[in-house]
Amino acid sequence: MYRTHTCGELRSADIGTNVTLSGWIQRSRDLGGMTFVDLRDRYGITQLAFNMEEQKELCESARKLGREFVVQVEGEVIERSSKNQNMPTGEIEIKVNKLTILNASQLPPFTIEDETDGGEELRMQYRYLDLRRKPIQKKMMFRHKVSLEVRKYLDAEGFIDVETPVLIKSTPEGARDFVVPSRMNEGQFYALPQSPQTFKQLLMVSGFDRYYQIVKCFRDEDLRADRQPEFTQIDCEMAFVEQEDVLHTFEGMMRHLFKEIKGVDLPQPFPRMTYAEAMETYGSDKPDLRFGMEFVDLNDEAKGKGFNVFDNSETVLGINAAQCSVYTRKQLDALTDWVKRPQIGAKGLVYVKCNEDGTFKSSVDKFYSQDDLKAWAEKAGAVAGDLLLVLSGNLETTRKQLSELRLHMGNELGLRNPAEFKPVWVVDFPLLEWDEDSQRYHAMHHPFTSPKPEDIGLIENEPGKVRANAYDLAMNGVELGGGSIRIHDRELQSRMFDLLGFTKEEAEAQFGFLMSAFEYGAPPHGGLAFGFDRLVATMSGTESIRDFIAFPKNNNGRDVMIDAPSPLDEEQLKELGIKLS
Ligand code: AMO
Repeated sequence: MYRTHTCGELRSADIGTNVTLSGWIQRSRDLGGMTFVDLRDRYGITQLAFNMEEQKELCESARKLGREFVVQVEGEVIERSSKNQNMPTGEIEIKVNKLTILNASQLPPFTIEDETDGGEELRMQYRYLDLRRKPIQKKMMFRHKVSLEVRKYLDAEGFIDVETPVLIKSTPEGARDFVVPSRMNEGQFYALPQSPQTFKQLLMVSGFDRYYQIVKCFRDEDLRADRQPEFTQIDCEMAFVEQEDVLHTFEGMMRHLFKEIKGVDLPQPFPRMTYAEAMETYGSDKPDLRFGMEFVDLNDEAKGKGFNVFDNSETVLGINAAQCSVYTRKQLDALTDWVKRPQIGAKGLVYVKCNEDGTFKSSVDKFYSQDDLKAWAEKAGAVAGDLLLVLSGNLETTRKQLSELRLHMGNELGLRNPAEFKPVWVVDFPLLEWDEDSQRYHAMHHPFTSPKPEDIGLIENEPGKVRANAYDLAMNGVELGGGSIRIHDRELQSRMFDLLGFTKEEAEAQFGFLMSAFEYGAPPHGGLAFGFDRLVATMSGTESIRDFIAFPKNNNGRDVMIDAPSPLDEEQLKELGIKLS
């Protein structure tokens, strides 16, 4: 038997017991007569004690143990002379009488401590060592717990877990597909699923009624802190439901998760906002509602006063940073530089300080009188001590830029409290968005999303105005999930493909299976998918999802530990019928 107890288990009640423990050497301290060694496993740390006088040989072997050696010890639980109240096992130690080295270790390339000296690249290269560190283990355990509670909730609600294939056919969901060549069908390729969308719809046609899957999805897109090329979804679908049923079910799931795991009561019901409102007020379809700083439309107040930049802009929008009039010239220059960075792309930033004495100081004083600026401040609800930050330009771009600036100010002013959770359903997304490059409409969500029945009449003549039965759940500025009520009628689905620029033949070749399924009794259905990695990271108050993934990819989509992707040898390529140029 390798162990009778774990390294996190023994307490003063166990004093006098003979035990066997196994684990890793965290560190050892040599105090002349005594050698103390910390033995670690997933459950905790237990101190081992070796006495030079009483057990010379054993003590000498203990002194030779290096960090990360795997050992087994047998001994007696004794009371510690200097207790450590910060450790659950801090009242006891093990008086060792037998030590076995199970596996020696090289000196690890970085310290396996809560705060490590290892840089990101090195930690990823030796991820199996990084994963030994307590903070990372905690994150993995947290992820496990969320997954377990998701399963409990969905099971209780009658959802069943059905696996769907990973080698599928390309589905147009916005990102590029990862593709896999087929040896048996030379010249043909599978695609890895961007999501199991069509399969879950087919399961509804098959009568499964309520489906879920915690499932890997693959998207070949540019990576960011909250994006990985392979990520996990909690993917769900329900038959005989309307939007309200779906929102109700998944609000319930979120409330369950936050209550069970964090002891947090989320609001009931969650607030809702239309897409149009979200864009107008926050310039984002995933607004962070932990703070206000809503957009202020300054078009009427700022245009027509001779300031060309504003006069020639489609829109002039501002935010009010409360109590920031104290910002120095240097701080304001830094903000201006921040919005001018290529990632944001603004041409400049206009500010108005609302001074304590009731006067205004702005970067555009030349063009605007005190009364003009007062009108801006009034529109923005700004009071003495506040600072208006104003951007202008094309509506869509300005909204995006101001949204970034708003979040930046939220960070600067400490308004984005990681322990606060503000969910919001964003509803009534447009069905389609115009793509300048291809000069045609794209499905904003995906081509299976149903239009709002009352907007169907607009499809042919004003497609841009059609709203979808689609919804996203945003929390703290993160899009946690999204879904829709689907089309379940062949005729409407076919019209949709038509609108998206598919020829009849293309639609048939890509989605013939789905449209023919709709001819065999398809129930009305809808669902959604949560980004599981994002959910777990957001619940932990973190933006980066990478730490919550055991073996993540870096920003170039590489796994630096296994060194993937990697070239194939000639033989393999030949077998697949692939020639590299
Ligand atoms: P959607 O494309 O909105 O919907 O994806 C659902 C959720 O998955 C998460 N997500 C990601 N997480 C990490 N890395 C990525 N690259 C990534 N891409 C998406 C987001 C997102 O909200 N089939 C539909 C769902 C449906 O209609 O039921 C779908 O996949 O949190």
